[in-house]
Amino acid sequence: MRCLHGSSGQLSRRGFLTVGGGVVTAAALSGCGSLLGSPTQIGPSSPLVDEAERARRVAGARIVDVTLAASPTTIDLGGVQAQTWAYDGLLPGREIRVARGDVLRVNLSNGLPQPTTIHWHGIALRNDMDGVPDVTQPPIGPQAAFTYEFTVPDSGTHWFHPHVGMQLDRALYAPLIVTDPTEAGDYDVEAVIVLDDWLDGVAGDPDQRLEQLRREGMDMGGMDMGGMGGMGDPSRDPLGPDTGDVDFPHYLVNGRIPAAPITVQGRPGQRLRLRLINAASDTAFRVALGGHRLSITHSDGFPVEPVDGDALLIGMGERYDAVVTLQDGAFPLVALPEGKQGQALAIVRTGNGDAPPADSLPAELGGQLVMAGRLRAVEDVRLAPRELDRTHVLTLGMDMGGYRWTINGEVFGQHEPLPIRRGERTRLRFENRTMMFHPMHLHGHTFQVNNGSGTGPRKDTSIVLPMQALEVDVEADNPGQWLLHCHNVYHGEAGMMTVLSYVE
Ligand code: C2O
Ligand code: CU
Repeated sequence: MRCLHGSSGQLSRRGFLTVGGGVVTAAALSGCGSLLGSPTQIGPSSPLVDEAERARRVAGARIVDVTLAASPTTIDLGGVQAQTWAYDGLLPGREIRVARGDVLRVNLSNGLPQPTTIHWHGIALRNDMDGVPDVTQPPIGPQAAFTYEFTVPDSGTHWFHPHVGMQLDRALYAPLIVTDPTEAGDYDVEAVIVLDDWLDGVAGDPDQRLEQLRREGMDMGGMDMGGMGGMGDPSRDPLGPDTGDVDFPHYLVNGRIPAAPITVQGRPGQRLRLRLINAASDTAFRVALGGHRLSITHSDGFPVEPVDGDALLIGMGERYDAVVTLQDGAFPLVALPEGKQGQALAIVRTGNGDAPPADSLPAELGGQLVMAGRLRAVEDVRLAPRELDRTHVLTLGMDMGGYRWTINGEVFGQHEPLPIRRGERTRLRFENRTMMFHPMHLHGHTFQVNNGSGTGPRKDTSIVLPMQALEVDVEADNPGQWLLHCHNVYHGEAGMMTVLSYVE
């Protein structure tokens, strides 16, 4: 069965699709199934979405009001000035911090020259607030405003960013921290650490860079590397030899280049909780704190049985929380872009002494590396064992000759939505037929990685290694139309996105 999006051609993610002045609803855009006599899609305006929200809503919930203004601005990266687009002129944008159960209400005004939206990455929210243009809402036009309002059901380290075009590769992102008032929290101080790869306003802009990739075709995108280098040395290149499509002039921690780093202050002996967020577009990072070991406590906001290591690998869109017991002195917190030149740096300081130099490479970077595969969810957050109702296989591919990244052979807009029914335990099996890793992200749910024993970590974004498969299990408890895509923004924009589509 082939699902065609009307006679007017394909759905453009950037454009407005309007009929008679009104915006076509997501149900109409992707509702071709009903024409063919198959089940009806549960769209963002379905009463079932309201019903799910009511079930999440806590009586007497606190409402947290935030305003955001997106606009062009100049950001100082630490001596380097970048002309870019940001929320309220800040990089990262101002952190939003709420408690589990709060209602978050955000008024966004769009001062950008393009339409925009906000996606609340990691939050199991109501579908019509998920911020995917033409799938869950009409894009917010230039000079227009929109209010997002939704219950935040789960604690954890999350973040938000636009879901239009290449906007995420500018300064448009910020942490969204959801606290749990009942959490024991075995730490004294905390720091939110946001990693990024940067080119905007320094080396062209992300739209130009994507156009360049499209002109160049796939010659740097994947096939050739495998033939030349094989799979490489997995201990040195855990993501394979081809880790990115774009070289960035700068790598940032909280908006700063290594020459002008932020400093995290603490006292010796204190326990520091690092909330690490990878907001980069095309870069995975290896993170280590000189002189310390990391104890990984959370993946994508959900608790894991703590695992110690010297360094952590974090893909685009992923978050990890790590706790360290602070030593006395000044220490480099370094994020090395996997397979690329350069680095990002912050300083952790508990005492006097010179700050570590900008090019510090602590030995921990070459030590024991923690990846998601080693993690196990704590018992409370494991999915209860049960039979699978459905399995969807997603083959991750690419087209020679053009910069096109595909799922099941199609780019977004020509994709076939993946049906799912409420209450079903569904397995998503990703089969990566390319030579690059893809951090695959599902909206509106936190799946459990299938590690064969029902104890895999809960996550919403998981790295699928080159030429390998990964399975994740989803409890279908949040009706709507949910984007499922590669969080390499260049790959996503070049097609590697589809929709997990609740039907009834
Ligand atoms: Cu953080 Cu659909 O993305
Ligand atoms: Cu990808």
